[in-house]
Amino acid sequence: MADLDQARRRLAEAQSVAVLTGAGISAESGIPTFRGSGGLWKNYRAEDLATPEAFARDPRLVWEWYNWRRESIAKAAPNPAHQALVKLEIDKPHFTLITQNVDGLHDLAGSGRMLKLHGDIWRMRCTSCGSNWPDRRPTLPKLPPHCACGGLARPGVVWFGEPLPEGIMKEAEHAAASAHVFLVIGTSAVVYPAAGLVPFAKQSGASVIEINTESTAFSGSVDFALQGPAGELLPKLL
Ligand code: OAD
Repeated sequence: MADLDQARRRLAEAQSVAVLTGAGISAESGIPTFRGSGGLWKNYRAEDLATPEAFARDPRLVWEWYNWRRESIAKAAPNPAHQALVKLEIDKPHFTLITQNVDGLHDLAGSGRMLKLHGDIWRMRCTSCGSNWPDRRPTLPKLPPHCACGGLARPGVVWFGEPLPEGIMKEAEHAAASAHVFLVIGTSAVVYPAAGLVPFAKQSGASVIEINTESTAFSGSVDFALQGPAGELLPKLL
């Protein structure tokens, strides 16, 4: 595979690497993606489950869905793609992992230099006093959960229509702009502002390497579009 060899050389030479991951990197760990075959948004409506309006309307329903996802994610372990990114982080002087995933598998694998654009399913936030805290219990005993102050707790994730955590896009853009190689792994790259990092990195001079089982809107404009499962391709790329 000439493309893989060339991409491998490009990555080996790079001192500065930024990576954008999406649900596809966790697919081989058994966590369903959002779009494509078997995607969550085929069977569930995002408007009913992943918006502030849905939570205001029916917090218990939203929490039941998040509780179900917590249960299934808790059974999953990092796969060779998550592990390969830890090795890359150790190897490169400048490295930033930008993830849209909330599943915590990058943390479990051992990634450290990470920006979680869409938050973390293992964190809670109080809708009343604003405090936030970790909660790793796969199943929450009582839904909806509450904060110590008595306020209603919500999942520590970003929902559709909500802003990303303050300042995080600036940091992600800085990483993308200073990267020699920008890796895009397992994302359909249709949700903004995250998806905008791909053309931004390219315009800023990075070589963009995409790994995906399917083609995306960016496959035609990246430097290398490697098609296949991340758990197989990423270890080969290093
Ligand atoms: P998607 O479900 O939209 O896309 C997953 C991508 O992974 C698809 O392009 C698949 O082709 C690809 N894929 C599947 N299995 C793969 C594998 N083994 N190896 C490599 N690629 C694989 O997920 P995201 O792009 O992460 O946001 O979705 C972005 C955001 O939309 C999510 O963070 C979430 C979602 O709604 C919120 O909930 C706010």
